Amino acid sequence: MRVLYVTSECYPMVKTGGLADVSAALPPALNAAGADVRLLLPGYPAVLNGLSNLHEVGELITDLPGCDRARLRIGRTADGVLAYALDAPSLYDRPGNPYLGPDGQDWPDNALRFAALAWAAAGFASDDSYDPWWRPDVLHGHDWQAGLIPAYLELRPDRFAGAVRPGTVLTIHNIAYQGNFGPWMLGDLGLPSSSFRIDGVEYYGNVSFLKAGCYYADRLTTVSPTYANEIQTAEHGTGLQGLLATRSDVLTGILNGVDYAVWDPATDPHIPARYTPDDLGGKDACKADLQSAFGLDRRPDAPLAAVVSRLTWHKGLDLVLEAAAQWIAWGGQLVVLGSGDPASEAGFRHLAQWHPQSVGVRIGYDEPLSHRIQAGADLFLVPSRSEPCGLTQLYALKYGTLPLVRRTGGLADTVIDANPAASADGSATGFQFVNATGQELVWALRRALTVYRKPERWQAMQRRAMTRDFGWHGPAEEYMELYRGLGR
Ligand code: ADP
Ligand code: GLC
Repeated sequence: MRVLYVTSECYPMVKTGGLADVSAALPPALNAAGADVRLLLPGYPAVLNGLSNLHEVGELITDLPGCDRARLRIGRTADGVLAYALDAPSLYDRPGNPYLGPDGQDWPDNALRFAALAWAAAGFASDDSYDPWWRPDVLHGHDWQAGLIPAYLELRPDRFAGAVRPGTVLTIHNIAYQGNFGPWMLGDLGLPSSSFRIDGVEYYGNVSFLKAGCYYADRLTTVSPTYANEIQTAEHGTGLQGLLATRSDVLTGILNGVDYAVWDPATDPHIPARYTPDDLGGKDACKADLQSAFGLDRRPDAPLAAVVSRLTWHKGLDLVLEAAAQWIAWGGQLVVLGSGDPASEAGFRHLAQWHPQSVGVRIGYDEPLSHRIQAGADLFLVPSRSEPCGLTQLYALKYGTLPLVRRTGGLADTVIDANPAASADGSATGFQFVNATGQELVWALRRALTVYRKPERWQAMQRRAMTRDFGWHGPAEEYMELYRGLGR
């Protein structure tokens, strides 16, 4: 089973969120399950520098303005996965964030940048493909950046008519990011005007890459079973719920996994002391280290809650700002690592200024620090309004840092609330609340505090959380099943 895995992020080369972690860990897991997966990535500087043994395999010729010619190179990731890089300097040779310019706004040519990526992927399906020895059976795209792949195969048989058409899969990591562009882009994107209709690429008067993928892909997946249902509702479907409901027979939710080679407190090189479910002792040293790093009072008995997150509205961190005063009044501490909305950044900065012994805030992106926080905190807060899967709560479980989450998407599927039944049968691994209000978060914090004050009960929950297995083996098997179902 040859699979071309098309993604705009891959840890550690380029990461803005969970997609990068998934793209680093799922392909090796699929290869271990018997697939032959190769990546296709935009040739950002970090990708061209990050792949080893890079050499040219072909040339890409597109109809797209600014990308009539580009080179396709192949190399290996640090994990040994073969990866193609689309080397088009006019599109990708830019520093920093893969989507935003230095002004913090989307690059104005993002439509063309990711249309080129999809065009390159579709090129693997044409008769004069780049590599006659490696023709993919499946083109597996991720998020809107890969959304046009199945549209090109369907709408441009003049360019992508192959002897055997590969199956197409689109994975939606977050339906809120859609890649919508003005209708005048249609021609530049190489899409026929006949495709600009509701049964096509049109979405509320724009061209939508995600809608195109949802409409034309053979199979759709998203990253948790609950989110697969949620995106078929008006509350979470962002206008695509009708289309997704009509495609529910080909839409599945496959939960993300964790790369335990990177996220494991027994081996993590970023944390000051290591620990296991059988010997939690090192976690105390990690907590003391974290309190020092953020200038908090070094009180071992102070319950320490943490956030590591993009600061965007859907992450619900305004609820943490609302609940913070009560948490601090109860003797709680809080550390926050994140960046994003300026108002949210300012809110957390102010909170830390007012309560320097209890609240520590780091605005920015810091991978090693995120590990130290996972290890040093007691509680990990993920109050998202929507969360397709969420990875940080899975990391928190492994680090014995009990997650406190809003019951939505993958958070609902992975954290077992310490309600009376789950506490009695010993299955609880964290805390959930239902409505996105500061008051409900306060109540959930109160419940967590009650358990925290009973160390035996708390440690039993920590051990249970740490031994839950969210490795990639199971999800990889589910993807294999899906690929086989395409009959290629
Ligand atoms: P999303 O992809 O929606 O941002 P996930 O929970 O799936 O949410 O993944 C977020 C990933 O990004 C995790 O690996 C998390 O540790 C990381 N992350 C988020 N913000 C930061 C930050 N400020 N510094 C370091 N890592 C971060
Ligand atoms: C998206 C989602 C997040 C998910 C990640 C990886 O960024 O917001 O919930 O874990 O993709 O699939």
